[in-house]
Amino acid sequence: MFAESTYIRRREELKKAVGSGLLLFLGNDECGCNYADNTYDFRQDSTFLYYFGLPYAGLSAVIDIDNDRQIIFGDELTIDDIVWMGSQPTLLEKAYKAGITDVRPSADLEKYISAATSKCTPVHYLPTYRSEHQLKLLQLLGVKPGAETPSVPFIRAVVNQRNHKTAEEIVEIERACDVTAEMHMTAMRVLRPGMKECEISAALEAVAQAAGCRLSFPTIATVNGQTLHNHYHGNVCRSGQMLLVDAGAETEMGYAGDMSSTICVDRKFTPRQKSIYDIQVASHLAAVEALKPGVPFKEVYELSCRVVCEGLKNLGIMKGNPADAVDAGAHAMFYPCGLGHMMGLDVHDMENLGEVWVGYDGQPKSTQFGRKSLRLARPLEPGFVHTIEPGIYFIPELIDLWRGQKKFTDFINYDEVEKWKDFSGIRNEEDYLITETGARRLGKKIPLTTEEVEALR
Ligand code: GLY
Ligand code: MN
Repeated sequence: MFAESTYIRRREELKKAVGSGLLLFLGNDECGCNYADNTYDFRQDSTFLYYFGLPYAGLSAVIDIDNDRQIIFGDELTIDDIVWMGSQPTLLEKAYKAGITDVRPSADLEKYISAATSKCTPVHYLPTYRSEHQLKLLQLLGVKPGAETPSVPFIRAVVNQRNHKTAEEIVEIERACDVTAEMHMTAMRVLRPGMKECEISAALEAVAQAAGCRLSFPTIATVNGQTLHNHYHGNVCRSGQMLLVDAGAETEMGYAGDMSSTICVDRKFTPRQKSIYDIQVASHLAAVEALKPGVPFKEVYELSCRVVCEGLKNLGIMKGNPADAVDAGAHAMFYPCGLGHMMGLDVHDMENLGEVWVGYDGQPKSTQFGRKSLRLARPLEPGFVHTIEPGIYFIPELIDLWRGQKKFTDFINYDEVEKWKDFSGIRNEEDYLITETGARRLGKKIPLTTEEVEALR
């Protein structure tokens, strides 16, 4: 945990931003995987972590702005718990670390909330992403699952604070990024033709575990990189293929790293692989070059798309004016994802609070295929931490579909595309902090160009 002063300050800022009412924080519970005592790895809710820091299951909290009270609700361990799980600090000892002195049993939360609602005090809560949260809202406020009305002022205040990373958060994120970089370089060093994808994922996950970290999301290590989030690890990596790795570490305090790399299974990339790889790198570097405060990330995305279209045009895969192709959405045949996303206590930071608030500042998102997957569009501000991850993918099903629909025939040379249908995909990803004057890459540099990757093979 950070010092208690960090959590006290964060809560004071939040109180000021929302102004009045009662703020309800639902921490996470243990969750049985296949029976109650065989649980998934416990992960605290990130907003709870941000304001209270306590990584324990079964806690809730209230900031009662009008009555100037901050309370953590939870239960002490029973002797049965201690026999099986060992002893833990008391609830009060835990709460002190977050600068809180008022702790009460879980059962008292319902009474506290009903006392507030009986006085017509508004109870602000955040969007749910677990059924346990929905059930608690049903119990506490009578809100039926699916009928929640999360508080927009609460969401916006949390997003505004969490989007601006402080120096102590950057230190944590950078540690996650350093471990993440080591995971990727390990994959580059150990991969040999004939190994299974799961051997590579095991090797890179061991790096995270040995550093005392967990994974910030399920590892992608696939020879079928054309599937953007491919979690299957059962293929053999064969000569002539590329392995797309997208993996990251999360520190003990919950801060994430997220990087991607695309590695030739052989010691060198083939000229055909390099021709697409170099376009991805050009797009990536153009995007990085453009990062600075005030620049809308949407424009950086559009730029990265134009570079992809220009490169594919030079190979005869696309045609026409690249800027027009991007405006029309034709680039999305090969680049159907966004350029990047915020990163912090979540790998896609605060996605549970709504991308439209986190990445769009309340402005509407495009519904166009490809563009709609852009998670971050707003003008960049100092303290933002986000990824840069353009990609180029040849997705056979999408190629067949659009060809059949005669879609974007002014911009896509389908006869040429047919020759690349078995190419798979390429993505490289780094993490950046927006500074007062520009941007800084977080964590150790991982090989980006084909030459840099080959040097580790
Ligand atoms: N690293 C997974 C993603 O950004 O979606
Ligand atoms: Mn990412």
